Amino acid sequence: MQDIADAQGTPAYVYSRATLSRHCEKLKQAFAAYPTLACFAVKANSNLHYLREVFSHGLGADLVSLGELERARIAGVDPRKVVFSGVGKREDEIVAALDMDILSFNVESEFELANIARLAAERGVVANISLRINPNIDAKTNPKITTGLYNTKFGLPEALARRLIGEIGEMSQLRLVGLACHIGSQITDLAPLGQAALRMAAFCAEVRSDAPDLKLINMGGGLGIRYRDENPPGLDDYAQTLISAIRPTGLKLVIEPGRVLAGNTGVLLTRVIGVKTTPDKTFVVVDGAMNDLLRPSMYDSFHDIVAVDEAGPGAEVIADFVGPVCETGDTLGKNRAVALPSPGDLFVVRGCGAYAASMSFQYNSRPRAPELLVDGSEVRVIRRRETLQDLWSLEQEAEARPLRSACNSL
Ligand SMILES: Cc1ncc(COP(=O)(O)O)c(C=O)c1O
Repeated sequence: MQDIADAQGTPAYVYSRATLSRHCEKLKQAFAAYPTLACFAVKANSNLHYLREVFSHGLGADLVSLGELERARIAGVDPRKVVFSGVGKREDEIVAALDMDILSFNVESEFELANIARLAAERGVVANISLRINPNIDAKTNPKITTGLYNTKFGLPEALARRLIGEIGEMSQLRLVGLACHIGSQITDLAPLGQAALRMAAFCAEVRSDAPDLKLINMGGGLGIRYRDENPPGLDDYAQTLISAIRPTGLKLVIEPGRVLAGNTGVLLTRVIGVKTTPDKTFVVVDGAMNDLLRPSMYDSFHDIVAVDEAGPGAEVIADFVGPVCETGDTLGKNRAVALPSPGDLFVVRGCGAYAASMSFQYNSRPRAPELLVDGSEVRVIRRRETLQDLWSLEQEAEARPLRSACNSL
């Protein structure tokens, strides 16, 4: 790591190709007993080189935007392994996915169904769709990443889905190929996932006669990983739980794993700028910040932070690891026992393969950190560090254009 920090600077995301590859293969093995398509949730890590590695193992993609669709396409995804989720697909996004002839849109609202039907008709194509069911099941995870309850914006209640299935039967531009469901993320208890799968199988049995083209049941992603002391289920138990519920339907199982594949493939490498104390606390100020890793500030989530070099003898302190961003919430880890570090010391923040770089931003005009892929004895820069010029490169032109009407709402 010292090597990498010297050559590439800090902060930097560092991923292991071997770990990613092992995770993809383990997932495939776990589901080998039943026809299953795993579509990697691109939002977890959307780097092109990272995606190429994932797709090379035969996985497809679960997307939520045109940007993700283009990334997956450029990285060589098989369009017939692409599912498109999300509550607010714009027209240009729907059209791009229709043109790509993806496996399925996961439809989340009545308005989306109407939009897809209209755009498919205009283009003279038939859109493959799945209805995303909101089963109103509590995934027992952080409320901010809970998606299967009625108080969230996701999916369709069963009663509405049942009515829509009747209507879809009359619409020649739509083909209902699947039923989908995703109840949340960082789930560490199999019971809600099992319950959701049983509900989906029962719903499928109920509507089957009105949905002759059904061939997929998509159980989404959500399996959690260990960040601290969680005890997430293993892949085999997870697979067994889903497969036993879905097997009676005879339909192909689709899953959309993100975190379980990517989370533990990477770290954020960061360097100590200095240590300060107040009458209340000790702060280790590092050069990585909330813009590089948002999860602790946004979800109060825990990431292990460990020194790259073993600590010498010295005082241990309880400290908060904080970044330079001007927000009190800019914290990478709170109340950590650590040998008093010195400026220049390196630390890694673990569990940064998923929802770290892909959620990064430039607040405080901080250039985004590079992404590095360790592959055996080599390291590849798979995204270069942003330069200062990158920060304002879109702000060069400020050409005045006439307005057609007054901007009254301004
Ligand atoms: C629809 C959908 N599928 C899959 C995922 C991936 O979830 P995870 O990374 O927890 O596996 C998400 C993330 O929240 C999602 O919203």
